[in-house]
Amino acid sequence: MTKRAAIILAAGQGTRMKSALPKVMHPVGGRAMVDWSVALAESSGCERIIVVCSPSQAQLQAHVTENLGPDGVAIQETPLGTGHAVQAAETHLAGFDGALVVLYGDTPLIPPDAIEALFARLEDGAGVGVLGFEADNPGAYGRLITHGHGEVEAIVEARDASPEQLAIRLCNSGVMAARADEVFSLLSRVTNDNAKGEYYLTDIVALARADGQNCLAVECAEADVLGVNSRLELARAEAAFQARRRRELLTEGVTLTAPETVFLSYDTEIANDVLVEPHVVFAPGVRVESGAVIRAFSHLEGAHVGAGAVIGPYARLRPGAEIGRQARVGNFVEVKSTRMGAGAKANHLAYLGDGEVGAGANIGAGTIFCNYDGYRKHRTEIGENAFIGSNSALVAPVSIGAGAYIGSGSVITQTVPGDALGVARGRQVIREGWSVSYRERMRAAKEETGDGQ
Ligand code: UD1
Ligand code: CA
Repeated sequence: MTKRAAIILAAGQGTRMKSALPKVMHPVGGRAMVDWSVALAESSGCERIIVVCSPSQAQLQAHVTENLGPDGVAIQETPLGTGHAVQAAETHLAGFDGALVVLYGDTPLIPPDAIEALFARLEDGAGVGVLGFEADNPGAYGRLITHGHGEVEAIVEARDASPEQLAIRLCNSGVMAARADEVFSLLSRVTNDNAKGEYYLTDIVALARADGQNCLAVECAEADVLGVNSRLELARAEAAFQARRRRELLTEGVTLTAPETVFLSYDTEIANDVLVEPHVVFAPGVRVESGAVIRAFSHLEGAHVGAGAVIGPYARLRPGAEIGRQARVGNFVEVKSTRMGAGAKANHLAYLGDGEVGAGANIGAGTIFCNYDGYRKHRTEIGENAFIGSNSALVAPVSIGAGAYIGSGSVITQTVPGDALGVARGRQVIREGWSVSYRERMRAAKEETGDGQ
């Protein structure tokens, strides 16, 4: 197979976002838009990936460098158009003799098979492959001027188009593929003699045609190429992602009682026969195994839920929550960096942070793992089948042995051995008849001072 590379254009200012954050770093489905494009390039087998940034986008440059290394960033000194932006990455690809796909950093939902189809057109001998779509409202998009079956003559930007061309609904998504050396050689001939005074990447199509090359369009759905320029479009892209992912999960055998109220992330993994009740949020990093139930109004992030476990309603699983098979995490229970063994239960009102709960253990209502001393975090270990009485504070580091009991309301600061009882609270005192004499004393005192009515 021919080698593949990707250039991701992200140097635009994104002023319509009105944001301190670079546009392409805004998330869709819990992942920065630029990372969607990087992941798409990776899944398409691109061995070189370069993101074109502007000199002012330090935060974006740092983010890309972290993922792709310093070679992954190209700087476009001034934004002179999409063609000029691609040229900014030319030296990065010096000597690369494979196929190149150009992606945008602000178009996160493109399916991998669309990219595969573009590369396939090149393998079949096309000079340039263009990803197009039928727009409901073509507006400012570039129009694909075609003849025959998807053969593209030229791409005309809306501002440069004639009224007849503006009536065309087949539009340019911006994604384009061609041999890398061909792209740079065609770009060297592109001028900025157009309405915007910019160097258009899209002009390489007409130039390739003039050279006698074949340019072919691949068509995809408009929802797959939603570009984001404003918060409104960001919300639309998010909605499109959510709709797509919900549909996939339903198809794969997950029950979503009210799909439109369940929010998923790009990497959410839910096995078949899981039931997800209404109003559940899956932040990134969640995996749920078969037969589990996620009850209403729960929030999960960076968590693993074992087969048959029941979470919620109103539960919060934070990063590092490992919930074992058939375990129970009930209402208003927060779990962070804690493994709960098979069948362990924390059914009501608890905080389990930085710990380990053995299989079959029962954590009473109001239990708190006091994991933080103001400086460092400490661990709480609870053995199998231990029973923690309600409203206990376990001051970490501390360990409770297997089968041990903790009396309700205890503040436990020392190790409790297996099968022992640990109680740490004031002893109960009973004084028979005390209330009667108390009331008499109080009444007498009041009469003496003449206080009250
Ligand atoms: C571009 C296409 C148009 C297509 C549309 C799809 C051209 C000339 N036009 O138009 O045919 O229908 O996208 O959304 O290519 N960028 C840079 N440096 C620049 C200019 C742009 O990095 O100098 C980046 C932007 O950050 C953005 C992408 O390139 O990610 C597209 O640029 P934009 O100005 O939005 O292009 P459009 O005018 O929308
Ligand atoms: Ca745009």
